[in-house]
Amino acid sequence: MSESTIESILQEKRLFNPPAEFSQNAQIKSLEEYQQLYDRALADPEKFWAELADQELHWFQKWDKVLDWQPPSASWFVGGKINLSYNCLDRHLTTARKDKAALIWEGEPGDTRTLTYAELHQEVCQFANVLKKLGVQKGDRIGIYMPMIPEAAIAMLACTRIGAAHTVVFGGFSAESLRDRLVDGQARVVITADGGWRKDAIVPLKVQVDKALADGSAPSVESVVVVRRAGKDVDMQPGRDYWWHEINQGVSADCPAEPMDSEDLLFVLYTSGSTGKPKGVVHTTGGYNLYTHMTTKWIFDLQENDVYWCTADVGWITGHSYVVYGPLSNGATTLMYEGAPRASNPGCFWDVIEKHGVTILYTAPTAIRAFIKMGEELPNARNLSSLRLLGTVGEPINPEAWMWYHRVIGGERCPIVDTWWQTETGGIMITALPGAIPTKPGSATLPFPGIFADIVDLEGNSVPANEGGYLAVKYPWPGMMRTLYGDRDRFRRTYWEHIPPKDGQYTYFAGDGARKDEDGYFWVMGRVDDVINVAGHRLGTMEVESALVSHPAVAEAAVVGKPDELKGEEIVAFVTLEGSYNASEELSKELKQHVVKEIGAIARPGEIRFTDALPKTRSGKIMRRLLRNVASGQELTGDTSTLEDRGVLDKLREGA
Ligand code: WTA
Repeated sequence: MSESTIESILQEKRLFNPPAEFSQNAQIKSLEEYQQLYDRALADPEKFWAELADQELHWFQKWDKVLDWQPPSASWFVGGKINLSYNCLDRHLTTARKDKAALIWEGEPGDTRTLTYAELHQEVCQFANVLKKLGVQKGDRIGIYMPMIPEAAIAMLACTRIGAAHTVVFGGFSAESLRDRLVDGQARVVITADGGWRKDAIVPLKVQVDKALADGSAPSVESVVVVRRAGKDVDMQPGRDYWWHEINQGVSADCPAEPMDSEDLLFVLYTSGSTGKPKGVVHTTGGYNLYTHMTTKWIFDLQENDVYWCTADVGWITGHSYVVYGPLSNGATTLMYEGAPRASNPGCFWDVIEKHGVTILYTAPTAIRAFIKMGEELPNARNLSSLRLLGTVGEPINPEAWMWYHRVIGGERCPIVDTWWQTETGGIMITALPGAIPTKPGSATLPFPGIFADIVDLEGNSVPANEGGYLAVKYPWPGMMRTLYGDRDRFRRTYWEHIPPKDGQYTYFAGDGARKDEDGYFWVMGRVDDVINVAGHRLGTMEVESALVSHPAVAEAAVVGKPDELKGEEIVAFVTLEGSYNASEELSKELKQHVVKEIGAIARPGEIRFTDALPKTRSGKIMRRLLRNVASGQELTGDTSTLEDRGVLDKLREGA
């Protein structure tokens, strides 16, 4: 985030009250009602969540204990039996929702498909039986590497139906990234497609899967199921690869949902951390179901006739919680779009809204900034009057972009929910409730009822209003991550010991810097660790550096984020070369391409800077803080006395 944005956020004084007509019919109708919920949860969090779990979800068997908190291990609804796929599908079939659209899908070329709850249930049951036919059992892990097509949601729901845990890998990740995740999770099956549409081109997903599995490099994978989407020729390895439309021939659509233990593994989703390889964030069944259900219901204020559209890809947590599980658990109509704004159709988002009568739109600040650039003629030329609520997620939204979203897309009548949360939190943590909480452009506003968030220093003490500090959560919540897959130690260190526990009190450290204003509103500034947020996607500097160093020309690399108007941040890589290589435009291109191959296009550095040496402390640590200053052309800030060789820095700045 740029200095000027932080500056303007600090001066932001505008306040937008929920429109009266909106509040009248809202799930949560007033600030008083929000406050009552918050206070009730504060007085007895376990009772608060237990009542909701009882009212809102179907349990095959009730729990014995609401919360077992052995810091940092939390178990929710201990002894309860539940199935997420059942709560998303079966229970709606005995109501009028049976023939309601569960999923509306729009492909990039303009093909569409609508599945009612009854139809989606049937598809999910049949594919669950296909997985069983392939030998999949409760507890197994399944890789999903798919475009945004209905089969992605069907595959996820089929896994949860039989108690297999999915690991969805974003389709933009490289074969190498896919393989790392399949190996770490020991996946038995991979579900993919012959390709998916992305900006008028076909992403060759199956080719990437073949590369990831080549030479037995992911030996746990026994079978690959391939959806025919793009009509592309692909190699099918006999005995390993099956077409989705062939293997489901004659398979029964009768598959009762498996009663899962509330704490059974639900899914693993990998995300970037500040050091080392990506972390497999573990979510379990009962708590995740309840938390995504409640947050979707209250934050998106679901009403029976809403057409709800979250633009995230299912490869990210937002796609898990707010494209698939949260909306379906509530019996809502969720829209899934395969495409992205592109030169041949920059107004495609507004077409989708007009065509399907979308009432709720949930997207990312980076997308909004891109729309601003494209001009308001595009949305103005469409009828967006069906919209009644807007949301954003993924990074701080600058007030200017908020105001544009409010005016041009929301027609000044739609409340905006700016939702702060993380892969680790499972669901939204800090947000407005649209009928209840007045909004301020750039602020995520207040914590969801039952979330005890605060701004603290590194000792865990609350800091005064309007002073910067670390965003932290002081009590467990049902949607929280349970551990890192296969690495309990790293889980404890990263999230629960960063702020040292005091008197048995453990504090969750989110890794974000933020402040609270005099009204208790949260203003999130961004990451405080070595995670870069590029267009709302988390990338660890270490991951990108490892990718660079794996190229034979590179001796050392240091990667930092530089403020970028559209993407929030852009990657700048400082690189020193092995003796026999020379800096050139050619090599710069090659290195960027190398990172794309190793990680994926989202990690492509915007800039490579060749240098003779990197600024280091006397103990040999790269001083990224100084590189950040150099990258963004700012004055050097803070202490440089620990720098080993000041000359290195002067040279870097001359070269800038
Ligand atoms: C950032 C995405 C400011 C934050 C759901 C967080 C935000 C990281 C917001 C998590 C927001 C997300 N305002 N910053 N409304 N939402 N972030 O795991 O830095 O992909 O820690 O989860 O995104 O990214 P993740």
